[in-house]
Amino acid sequence: MSVDLRTAVGSLELLNPVMTASGTAGHGAELASYFDLSRLGAVVVKSLASFAWPGNPAPRVAPLPAGMLNAVGLQGPGLSAWARDELPRLAATGARVVVSIWGRSVEDFAKVGKELAELVAPGAAAPFVAVEVNVSCPNLEDRSRIFAHSPEATAAAVDAVGEAGLPVPLWAKLSPNTADLVEVAGAALDAGAEGLTLVNTLLGYFVDLATRRPVLGAGGGGLSGPALHPVALRAVRDCRVAFPSAGIVGVGGIGDAEAALRMLLAGADAVQVGTATLADPRAPVKVLDGLSAACERYGFASVREAVDALSLGTDALSPGT
Ligand SMILES: Cc1cc2nc3c(=O)[nH]c(=O)nc-3n(C[C@H](O)[C@H](O)[C@H](O)COP(=O)(O)O)c2cc1C
Repeated sequence: MSVDLRTAVGSLELLNPVMTASGTAGHGAELASYFDLSRLGAVVVKSLASFAWPGNPAPRVAPLPAGMLNAVGLQGPGLSAWARDELPRLAATGARVVVSIWGRSVEDFAKVGKELAELVAPGAAAPFVAVEVNVSCPNLEDRSRIFAHSPEATAAAVDAVGEAGLPVPLWAKLSPNTADLVEVAGAALDAGAEGLTLVNTLLGYFVDLATRRPVLGAGGGGLSGPALHPVALRAVRDCRVAFPSAGIVGVGGIGDAEAALRMLLAGADAVQVGTATLADPRAPVKVLDGLSAACERYGFASVREAVDALSLGTDALSPGT
C-alpha cells in the first residue's frame, strides 16, 4: 500500500506534512548538508525582525531530563540582511520556505511585513510560501506582556502584517502559556491569519545545584521537547474543535513518526520538528521517512484520512483538575 502524504494548511498545499520548527533549523540552508531540504513539506526559518537582534547572554540552551530549556532570545540578522545573505542559498535547495517574523511592537510587525512584501517582485511568485507570525514574544507597549497572551495584541500584530497585502497565507504562532488559547486563536483568525502554529515553548526555569545559579544566562527560558508533546496535542485538539476549518500546524515534542501521526490525529494538518533536530539534524527527514510506515501500521491510507479521523468527539476536553 502506498500512503498519500499530501496535505494542505488552509490554502497552502504541501507534498507532505513535515516541516522544520522555527529556530531549530537555522536561518537558511544550514541543514542542507544533512539531507535534501526540498523533500520536506516546508522549511520554517528562525524568526526574523526588521532589525538585527543580538539575543540573550550565554548559556542559551540547557538539556533537561524531559526536554530542553532555551533562551536564545530571537537572535537574528534582520530581514533585509537575511534576504541578501541566506534566502538565495535556501531557495536554491528547492525548499518551500516559510518565513517566521517577530517584533517588539505592532509597528515592528507592520515594518517587517512591509519589508517582506518588498521581496516579492511584481508579477513573480513570492520566494516564500507562507509567513508565520511569531506572536510569542514580548510587547514593549504592554509592559513586555507576550503578544500571544492577549487576544487584542495578537489581533493587532496579525493585522499589522496583513496590511502589507502579502500574496501568501499568514499563520499565527501561539503560546501555550495562557488559559485563553482558543480566544487568542480566534482573534488571530479574525484578524486575517489563515493558519495557527501550535505551540511555542512553555515558560520554564531550572537551577544548577552546584553553582546555585539558573542554568540559562537569561535566568528563565522556554521548555521544549518531549515534555511539551501532550501540551501541544491538547492545544491542537482544542483549536481544531473550536475552528474546524482553520489550517493548523502542530509542534511540540515531535521526534519520531508516531508522534507526528499522533499530532495529525489530534487535528493538525501538518507538523513541525524542533528540539529533536538539535540532537539529530536529520530528525525532520527521519520523521518523514517513517510516516508512511506509521500510517500503514495504524490503518491510514493517507495523511488526510488521519487528520480527518478525529474520533474523539467534539466536546471540550475536561480541564483535568
Ligand atoms: C533553541 C530554540 C530556538 C527557538 N527559536 C524560535 C524562534 O526563533 N521562533 C519561534 O517561533 N519559535 C522558536 N522556538 C520554538 C520552536 O519552534 C517550537 O515551537 C518549540 O520548540 C516546540 O517544538 P519542539 O518541542 O519540537 O522543539 C525555538 C525553540 C528552540 C528549542
